[in-house]
Amino acid sequence: MRIDKLLSECAVAARREAAGVARRGGVLCNGEPVRDLSRHIDPERDKITYLGREVVYRPFTFVMLNKPTGYVSATDDPGLPTVMELLPPEHKKMGLFPVGRLDRDTTGLMILTNDGALAHSLLSPKKHVEKVYFFTCAEPLRDGAEDMFREGVTLGDGYECKSAVLALADDRTSGTVTLTEGKYHQIKRMMGAMGNRITSLCRVSFGGIELDGSLPPGGWRYLTAEEENILRGERK
Ligand code: URA
Repeated sequence: MRIDKLLSECAVAARREAAGVARRGGVLCNGEPVRDLSRHIDPERDKITYLGREVVYRPFTFVMLNKPTGYVSATDDPGLPTVMELLPPEHKKMGLFPVGRLDRDTTGLMILTNDGALAHSLLSPKKHVEKVYFFTCAEPLRDGAEDMFREGVTLGDGYECKSAVLALADDRTSGTVTLTEGKYHQIKRMMGAMGNRITSLCRVSFGGIELDGSLPPGGWRYLTAEEENILRGERK
């Protein structure tokens, strides 16, 4: 693989910027400066550093985004802004896409990747990947709501939801819901079936990965190697 390709695939630097850094001796391969970034290296064996930091090659990219309201969870949309617009443009060229969907007015943890097989597996109903949402609702939830969620809420169209965990705050108008499935508008429809209405919804965890509280709305970062391993563990 060419060094400039490695640097752009790992989103370290765009080719032109990297060429300037290399000319000034800022790119090393196994400790030796590399001035010509068209040189081929073995990304698994050669140690590349860029401005003193090791470039760790991972064949796939994983991004954690704190989705704000107003964005659709898609790569393209004819009229509305998509979550892709919150990332630097090179990510679209890398083939990143959102793993699953959040409604336009839902906020919080969204994972984007270009690992299609892993994304498919994380979304498979057979894998029961846990998603945790913090919600607020219009009215206090009635006594016994926790049991109804555990037994499986029946939606307006007759669909029987899988067992879910409802944990309520003292005022019973906020709390968390843990789902292991992902039907269209699921939590809004579950609350609708309880005669209630969601007023805000934020995903705080997905497949064992927690939303990084230091990310502002619209902020993003790459997953750590440890977080990536947690996601991969969800496949087994
Ligand atoms: N449930 C919903 O109703 N909306 C979401 O965005 C996610 C879960």
